[in-house]
Amino acid sequence: MATRLATVRTTPARHLAPEGTQEWWRTAVVYQVYLRSFADSNGDGIGDLAGLRSRLPYLSWLGVDALWINPHYPSGGADGGYDIVDYRAVDPDYGDVADLEAVVADARQLGLRVILDVVPNHTSDQHPWFQAALADPDSPEAARYHFAPASEEPPNNWRSLFGGPAWSRTPDGRWYLHLFAPEQPDLNWRDPAVAEDFDRTLRFWLDRGVSGFRVDVAYGLFKDAQLRDNPGSYSPTLFGHGPEQAMTWNQPEVHDVWRRWRAICDSYPDTMLVGEVCLADLEQVAQYSRPDEMHQSFSFRLLKSGWSVDAFADGVRTALDAFGSVGAPVSWVLGNHDKDRQVTRFGGGEMGTARARAAALMMLSLPGSPYLYAGDELGLPQAVVPDEAKLDPIFHRSGGARAGRDGCRVPMPWNASAGVGFSPDGAADPWLPIPAEWDQFAVSRQTRDGGSMLTLYRRALALRAAHSALGSGDATVSTRGDVLTVRCVGDGETVRCVLNMGSGTALVRSTGTVLLASSTRVRHSGRSVALPPNTAVWLAED
Ligand code: GLC
Ligand code: CA
Repeated sequence: MATRLATVRTTPARHLAPEGTQEWWRTAVVYQVYLRSFADSNGDGIGDLAGLRSRLPYLSWLGVDALWINPHYPSGGADGGYDIVDYRAVDPDYGDVADLEAVVADARQLGLRVILDVVPNHTSDQHPWFQAALADPDSPEAARYHFAPASEEPPNNWRSLFGGPAWSRTPDGRWYLHLFAPEQPDLNWRDPAVAEDFDRTLRFWLDRGVSGFRVDVAYGLFKDAQLRDNPGSYSPTLFGHGPEQAMTWNQPEVHDVWRRWRAICDSYPDTMLVGEVCLADLEQVAQYSRPDEMHQSFSFRLLKSGWSVDAFADGVRTALDAFGSVGAPVSWVLGNHDKDRQVTRFGGGEMGTARARAAALMMLSLPGSPYLYAGDELGLPQAVVPDEAKLDPIFHRSGGARAGRDGCRVPMPWNASAGVGFSPDGAADPWLPIPAEWDQFAVSRQTRDGGSMLTLYRRALALRAAHSALGSGDATVSTRGDVLTVRCVGDGETVRCVLNMGSGTALVRSTGTVLLASSTRVRHSGRSVALPPNTAVWLAED
């Protein structure tokens, strides 16, 4: 018997929960919009706010609850917008503040919330503060960064995450600290003017109706006050930074910033903070989402795990335990703008696509708040970007040794026309080249294809909204051989997500109903379900 797919009703019109009645963020599906690559309204080859606004109905149709927009601020352009020149403005490439307000208002009409990106660890070197600090070492602005007197050697052994030393020289010979690119000088959070200015920034955007912030490098901000050498050589482990970099990250003082920001958010209804905390120890990551700090801190375990049942099981279990112990939901991540696309990471081609489909079902079954990276719902692979078109400082600062992140930031294909509908007809070239064959991934094609990745995501999101066991149940994880099972229980209902990560077909006993399968090759007959390699299924138990 062929796979039985439950009929999925169209997503019911969703309404924002009345203010203050529900912690919407605990189970929200958040869609990450890479603004520069989402939709270009005016034909300059750059995605913008008006383009995003015109595509909001797509996000509502897809069935997500909120969107997080990558940095929209005026920027020096050295690190994809993460080098900010003005925190309370919109980059003219993207529009203006009124355009952002229009996005927020339209989104609200559609039942979608908007989260902005905020970058407190560093500014752009073009920021007026840094410019004033360069001009005058005794200025108040100079105290807001980390400068050290001119000397032959940098003050310590700290390394930039993008390669090379974390210290560069000013024209007058001083050293300044940048844990990322030299165009991203680190702020000195021991200067109260820094914290006060960020308070203003948060309020500025909250007053415009946004529902919160994704906080960049939230494990940074404070550094060892004596600037002592890091104890170990610079070699981040697979899952993030650890004790070898004890002097640069995860200083205890940083938690006071999150308490302060939480208090600001709490004075606006229904807002939330999600932190990027790239520490190897997930228990430490979870400390950032204690009840009086941020609402969530990303769990990057699955994003950083290969296709291995032990890695996935461990990634899910440790996250449920660590965040559960502080009462925070897990924010699950399989893709973002910093990592190779899932399809490629999981082996590429048909196999990579099959695995990405199966992984999506697993992630969307889990309790908590999943983050979907724009284009992953289309099954986009990592694009091959010619070296001469690459912009990522990781590529350039490593002398080409590291490929960089451009390949996961290529514009979205919307239709099968020559320019794949990213820009209006006759527009300038897109800011990163779109591979010629990407019309095959276009939204317009996948909407009409019942077997497409997009259809799978949409069905999964509709079922997740309709079944309390999915996304908000209690989950237990078990493995048998290469088969991973997540058993989700909610409101008297049990749904099992079974994922076959091995190389042979797995047989699973079930008398229930197949709610959704990642592949038409999944077969349900009598009392068992046959799962070929790299497939997953949602089974509702009788
Ligand atoms: C975060 C962002 C990344 C950026 C870095 C520096 O890791 O996700 O894109 O390059 O911070 O701001
Ligand atoms: Ca544009």
